Amino acid sequence: MGERIQAVKGMNDVLPPDGARLERVVRTSRRMLEAYGYREVVTPAVEYTPLFVRAVGEVTDLVEKEMYTFPDRDGRSLSLRPEGTAGAIRAYVEHAVHKAEPVTKWYYAGPMFRHERQQRGRYRQFHQVGAEALGVAEPGIDAEMITMLVDLLATLSVPGTRARVSSLGCAGCRPAYRERLTGFLRPRAEALCEDCRRRIDRNPLRVLDCKKPGCAAARAGAPSTLDVLCPECRAHLDAVVGDLAALRVAHELDGTLVRGLDYYTRTTFEITGDAAELGAQNTLLGGGRYDALVEELGGPSVPAIGFAMGIERILLAMPADAPAPAADVFLVAIGEAARRWSIAQARVLRAAGLRVELDHRGGNPKRQIRRADSAGARFVVLVGDDELSAGTAALKDLRSGEQREIPQSALATELARLLSG
Ligand code: HAM
Repeated sequence: MGERIQAVKGMNDVLPPDGARLERVVRTSRRMLEAYGYREVVTPAVEYTPLFVRAVGEVTDLVEKEMYTFPDRDGRSLSLRPEGTAGAIRAYVEHAVHKAEPVTKWYYAGPMFRHERQQRGRYRQFHQVGAEALGVAEPGIDAEMITMLVDLLATLSVPGTRARVSSLGCAGCRPAYRERLTGFLRPRAEALCEDCRRRIDRNPLRVLDCKKPGCAAARAGAPSTLDVLCPECRAHLDAVVGDLAALRVAHELDGTLVRGLDYYTRTTFEITGDAAELGAQNTLLGGGRYDALVEELGGPSVPAIGFAMGIERILLAMPADAPAPAADVFLVAIGEAARRWSIAQARVLRAAGLRVELDHRGGNPKRQIRRADSAGARFVVLVGDDELSAGTAALKDLRSGEQREIPQSALATELARLLSG
């Protein structure tokens, strides 16, 4: 007997009926994004490693510890994408999209890879739906994006959502904040983990998102970015908050909000959910502005904002729904001539848009009807030699148990009528 090979740790199979739920979340998100003028972009799942190092930041958990990095056959270092923004902006710059359009709104959906410690809601392969809006510096689009996401989560019936908004400042005011934070952290270095101690001088903001309990305790009372915003960044944030209030979108200003990626400037946001199924990983989506990234990746100076939502977390947070049946109609054939007729008839009904199953294994009609039942079919169409010569079929409603004869030529329209009613 062959040795059993299992899936890679932290990478999950999505079995039916969860595949359909996942697809439904993506479909609903697509519809919402398209209503807001976003169009789909598809970029590779693998990029040259320096792209992520430069975009996400060298001194981040994501780049230091979580990337799946390996040499290509020609020796160049490749990485599985840990997130979608870097690839999207690489494509935007590579194809000089800014020359063709002043404002670009892209969305994407697909798998991302992070070598994290796995737990509920945190996996090594997971799926995101994300979007990037380029070319708009004005705060109106920040508020619009947050509003769209609050509405999307409501459409998906995700309970207990909470939107938090902050600002990380810009190249002008960030240094002052960094200095304040470094000053706060230095006397507390002893209480921090080794990584955080190293980061005090290299990238103090990252100390704020260390997950170790000792570090969380030591950084209590750390200064907030909101206290050191320059007048322009303050005005930008006030405008975002003002728009959200005007749109009656509930949100909290939270200066302790930190994001795990280095490219953010000004507005950042996260939305959490309160479903018990989420466990400790209750952040459903996050994003923010990254006004300097396009230029850092070799493009022109183009302001931008984006978000990404974790599909697996949405699935955990969404209420369970009744599983959809695999078929609407089940064809039961008695005898070889009827079998031939039913495979042809199934093809006709399927072309008419019905979900149709039959049992190629044939056998006892009672057993075939039991299979129809377990496939979740509402109707059974029964045909034997008598029906074939009469040009009719027995149509049975499995829900009511009612059965009647109808002409074969009326089957498609009659079934479509019954199923739409
Ligand atoms: P992020 O906060 O790293 O942002 O990830 C966004 C979302 O992806 C999280 O809120 C979470 O729902 C989901 N997620 C992240 N890691 C995992 C994991 N290991 N397992 C399951 N779900 C996970 C970004 O990725 C940015 N690219 C968002 C962005 C776009 N910012 C600007 N544009």
